[in-house]
Amino acid sequence: MNKQINPFKESKSKKVRPTMYRAMKYWGKKPNDIWKNLIAEYSQEGSFILDPFAGSNVSLFEGIRMGRHVLSVDINPLTSFITDVYSSAKYIDINDLKQDALDIIEIVERSSLYKKNWVDKKSGEINNFIWIDGKILEGRVKDNHGNVIKVKPYYGNEQYNLGFIKEHDIFRKNISDFISISNSSLKKLGGKQLYNIWTERNFNLLVKIFTTIRDSDINDNNKRALIFGFLQSTHLTTKMNALRSDKSRRPFSSSWGRPAYLGLSKFMEQNPLIQFRRAIFGNAGLISALISVEQYIGNFTICHNIGKMNTNVVLNEDFLSMDSEKLNNAFDLALVDPPYGSIIQYGELSLVWNSWLITCYPYYKIDLNKEIIINKSHSRLDYESSMITAFAKISKLLKNKGNMVLTFNSSNMDDWGSLVRCLYKSNFFFIDIFHNKNKRSSEATVGTKTDTGTSDFYLIFSNEKECSKDNIYSIEKLNKIIGDVIGSK
Ligand SMILES: C[S@@+](CC[C@H](N)C(=O)[O-])C[C@H]1O[C@@H](n2cnc3c(N)ncnc32)[C@H](O)[C@@H]1O
Repeated sequence: MNKQINPFKESKSKKVRPTMYRAMKYWGKKPNDIWKNLIAEYSQEGSFILDPFAGSNVSLFEGIRMGRHVLSVDINPLTSFITDVYSSAKYIDINDLKQDALDIIEIVERSSLYKKNWVDKKSGEINNFIWIDGKILEGRVKDNHGNVIKVKPYYGNEQYNLGFIKEHDIFRKNISDFISISNSSLKKLGGKQLYNIWTERNFNLLVKIFTTIRDSDINDNNKRALIFGFLQSTHLTTKMNALRSDKSRRPFSSSWGRPAYLGLSKFMEQNPLIQFRRAIFGNAGLISALISVEQYIGNFTICHNIGKMNTNVVLNEDFLSMDSEKLNNAFDLALVDPPYGSIIQYGELSLVWNSWLITCYPYYKIDLNKEIIINKSHSRLDYESSMITAFAKISKLLKNKGNMVLTFNSSNMDDWGSLVRCLYKSNFFFIDIFHNKNKRSSEATVGTKTDTGTSDFYLIFSNEKECSKDNIYSIEKLNKIIGDVIGSK
């Protein structure tokens, strides 16, 4: 057990990922090939794997592909939703789905709402408007060669009779309570309700696209898949989208990658219908993702009930209150990617998608109060006490000497301190550490000054239920490595 540990070992992930992992944005998404290698190393075909904080469910998909049984849990309903859409790929006729999407797009294109707001009589469909300090500088139309035709600013503030969704509690949520928004951002967004993150024009058009899908008579699987595509267009059409620099020569492209609600002095108001088309038909869109699911994983079934652990189970639940007594000692491996203290407010940020999702499917619920996180209502002590409970539960669920792979990503040394304090109180014995630099978009780039924000560290533990004194020394070793390697970066 006293082997030398080399903390500088690097695990490189490949640049190209299957499209199914690119079609859905999620905070803190992990590289699939790293999970794949870890699953291969620490489990066998038929093994049972637990992921208590599954997020975009990369571990579940990799586990299924390799013939493992996976229990995936997350308080965020997006985890269940993504899996429901992907596991229904086998029932979806891609040509039918394409036709359904084209029908929706055509209805929206023909609406006066769209024509008035997004079509310039002379130049055609407007791609985006550029806003500076509360005023529109210009509208941009793409000509046949991909060049910019500038059209005159158009404010499009007319009211349409689509505001009923605005009355929904979730869109009226007070974002001034959010930890991931500053007062200056709030001022720039120009309002305190969640729907204020979109311009009036965009909110109305999003409602139009959304209700056209929701109220259509297309079959349930196709409808849910189109809602998935729709969700991918919601964050890209907020006021939080920054323009790319002139050097990048991408005058039609914007980005919201930061883990915070951002009010910007200068932003790009993207055309929601163009974003929706891209989310369905684009290179990393829904259609390619469903084809990629079929090719990469094939048919698979999941259930949402813990009683059936001979298959793969996905639970939209708080891991700490999940009733799992009967699964104690069942798991060979736990892949654990917990919330990183205060650094990403997953629940708050996911409301950009979940607000729409829950309006269509009320059972994809979220209880933000039970999220393990540090914010205005949960202190660092609360966080540590939840993480101690989580480690104890994971240890019980694992077989004796089963393994836990823990990954963590924070530039805040207080978060690392919390993690180590919780590990001290657990039964886990530290074995190894390596890191992976995340260079690709939509992965865990927490975007911080130090390297620690863009490297994921993977810590390997053995579950030692009969806790010996050695464990304490082993975690001390980890503490020293964290101080030397992570703290010094
Ligand atoms: C770092 S992310 C996981 C990312 C994931 N590994 C991926 O590749 O997409 C941490 C997750 O913990 C979840 N979480 C927070 N509190 C939770 C709780 N009480 N029970 C279950 N999941 C929780 C968050 O919703 C978030 O998805």
